[in-house]
Amino acid sequence: MSVVPQEISMDLPVVDLDVYLNNAVDSPEVKAECEKAAKALITYGALVLHDSRVAEKDNETFLDLLEDYFAQPEEELGKDERPELSYQIGVTLENTEKPKCAVDEPCLNVIQRLAPEERPLDISGHHPDPKCRFFWRMAEQPPYETKFPGLNADNVVPQAPHIKERWNPAMQQWGTSMKSAVEGLTEMTAVGLGLPAGTFKDAGKYGPHLLAPTASDLVKYGQKDTILAGFHTDLNFLTIHGRSRYPGLHIWARNTGKRIAVKIPPGNYLLVQAGKQLEHITGGLIKAGFHEVVVNERTVEVIEKRKQQFPDRPLIRISSTFFWHLNSDHDLAPIPKLAEEAYRLRAEQFNLGRDEGEEKTYPPMKVGELVQEELKHIALMA
Ligand SMILES: [Fe+2]
Repeated sequence: MSVVPQEISMDLPVVDLDVYLNNAVDSPEVKAECEKAAKALITYGALVLHDSRVAEKDNETFLDLLEDYFAQPEEELGKDERPELSYQIGVTLENTEKPKCAVDEPCLNVIQRLAPEERPLDISGHHPDPKCRFFWRMAEQPPYETKFPGLNADNVVPQAPHIKERWNPAMQQWGTSMKSAVEGLTEMTAVGLGLPAGTFKDAGKYGPHLLAPTASDLVKYGQKDTILAGFHTDLNFLTIHGRSRYPGLHIWARNTGKRIAVKIPPGNYLLVQAGKQLEHITGGLIKAGFHEVVVNERTVEVIEKRKQQFPDRPLIRISSTFFWHLNSDHDLAPIPKLAEEAYRLRAEQFNLGRDEGEEKTYPPMKVGELVQEELKHIALMA
């Protein structure tokens, strides 16, 4: 596999799922596109994915619905909370989830190694994030008894009449689009890493996948340099995003380099980021990508523009996010040949003067155990 280039571009690679879907799996086009996908995830922990099956209007319908949902009074939203299930289904209200990084040594070291001008906004206060979220499960019921029933609970449907009737179709339509796009990418990534195409997809067949829009009230939290979601990585396998109406997502390439303000082109494009499960199974060859959501200059510009253009719409930033997971009962352990490659790449980076910090270990565990450990850190699980 080719190495991380010395100077990396600040534009994320665009990977075309159409090439994979429309050509023979052993064709040179497919091989090249899959290698591009794997390399992008190794270098950036992220990529832009093109999938012509995905319709922009389904994202618009979804964003309209979620703006209307989160514009409801807090007591109405509270009916959809399930703290007894660690908020892994239904709504999480603002100021519940805390960014783990503020009290986590290895994560603080990642920030420390960044040049000061490339660092995220200061999270040292360990304040909870001012964001709300809804978790809508898009999973297939496993045909076996799961050791993690709490991570596989039934969905909550909001009850207000103007929301209820639109809910299922909009959530299912957009969720299914993002799910099939990200599942296609799991195959491309496996092929690009020299593995059988179904390696990851099969291990995630019964994963507790979540359509997980977050919402930030820009009337309350619309000032420049407000942190909407503090610097963190995701605990799942791959996260896929549709375009948000407001910019503000920053990512870091391989957690050592520059802060990148994400731009997703309009049309059939999605952003994908690597999570902790992918990092674990590749032995750190692909690293979970750090990111933050903040109000930056461009967010403020769009807020002002939308106030003029849509004065009657709620001023809420919805992120169009889907978390793809491996099965909770899957035995997670680094694939040996990828772990070797990770070791080699780490040494190479070190020789290039890029210190990736203390070496991490990836002990064997169930995927569900990794998820539960992470949830404790972000204050969602007692
Ligand atoms: Fe995230």
